[in-house]
Amino acid sequence: MSETPLGGSAIRWRGGEGGVLELLDQTRLPGEARVLSLSGLEEVRDAISRLAVRGAPAIGVAAAFGLWLGIRAAPEDQAGFDAVLAEAKARLVSARPTAANLAWALGRIEAAARGADAAPARKRRAFEAAKALLDEDVRTCARLAEHGAGLIRDGESVLTYCNTGALAAAGAGTALAVVLEAHRRGRRVSVFACETRPLLQGSRLTMWELMRAEVDATLITDNAAADVMRRKLVHRVLVGADRIARNGDTANKIGTYGVALLAKAHGIPFHVVAPLSTFDPTIGSGDRIPIEERAASEVTQIEGRPIAPAGARAFAPAFDVTPAALITGIVTEAGVISPVDEAGVTRVLSNPRASI
Ligand code: MRU
Repeated sequence: MSETPLGGSAIRWRGGEGGVLELLDQTRLPGEARVLSLSGLEEVRDAISRLAVRGAPAIGVAAAFGLWLGIRAAPEDQAGFDAVLAEAKARLVSARPTAANLAWALGRIEAAARGADAAPARKRRAFEAAKALLDEDVRTCARLAEHGAGLIRDGESVLTYCNTGALAAAGAGTALAVVLEAHRRGRRVSVFACETRPLLQGSRLTMWELMRAEVDATLITDNAAADVMRRKLVHRVLVGADRIARNGDTANKIGTYGVALLAKAHGIPFHVVAPLSTFDPTIGSGDRIPIEERAASEVTQIEGRPIAPAGARAFAPAFDVTPAALITGIVTEAGVISPVDEAGVTRVLSNPRASI
């Protein structure tokens, strides 16, 4: 992302151990590029739950620093420190239940802290681990982009859903980073961005990123996806993920499943782009992925204005699950898993350093 108030990033830590977490408030985009400066765990939790910071990798990085903010003033005695750490972790992990990166990041910070005996060293390690996690996300996104860009042929038209670019990560993002990398390499690539109801991450955020990068991008309503596919205007679908089960079933923004069915019906390759931190090896299939339900007002209102009769009942799942059978491949930092099945996922997770 070029020239944002945070120097090309959507999330940044400013200062040393006593510093603040800075986020580009995504609820305000594209109208306003406003920076939030957060110095407490509850502020970070609130930013995550109201989607000021969003996208699975960015949620993980924000939560890591949220945990640091929650423990930096913890008592120095072991029992007191442990109690504050456990409470802080529980507060953050409940902020958004679907993105696997949230619990993964918190687990990393906790493990780093527990690797030392005394509280001062525990705190230092937790802070260092949060900074390392942010840096690692930047490197991981770069590898995803590299692996994914290899799939894109010159002249391709890609359909994407939700927002998976630099706003959704500390680094360049996932699916959108692939498009931007192909564009950077000089391939002619164009994008159909689905607007992504109800919170419009596609129109507000993806179009903002694509237009700033001068990629040939066209916004469509979600219900235009079938038609552009039938007209043969789409060569490939690229989406991100919030949690991937051991068999490859993938939770992503509500509506992704429908796009995958449409891609299958039209013979269009459908790739998921996600870091290994989005995989949840404890879950055998998508049936067990917890799906976050949002407030009905996110469906019945747009920016506070009613678009349904007062009192209308609404159902607002934030994510749906795309079965592995509909996914052509999953692009990870270790390479592309294809076919998508338990054997392929297990192979990568058990030896992530060996590129596929
Ligand atoms: O509710 P959101 O905006 O956090 O949902 C985001 C998505 O579904 C993204 O596609 C996913 O997190 C991958 S982001 C790189």
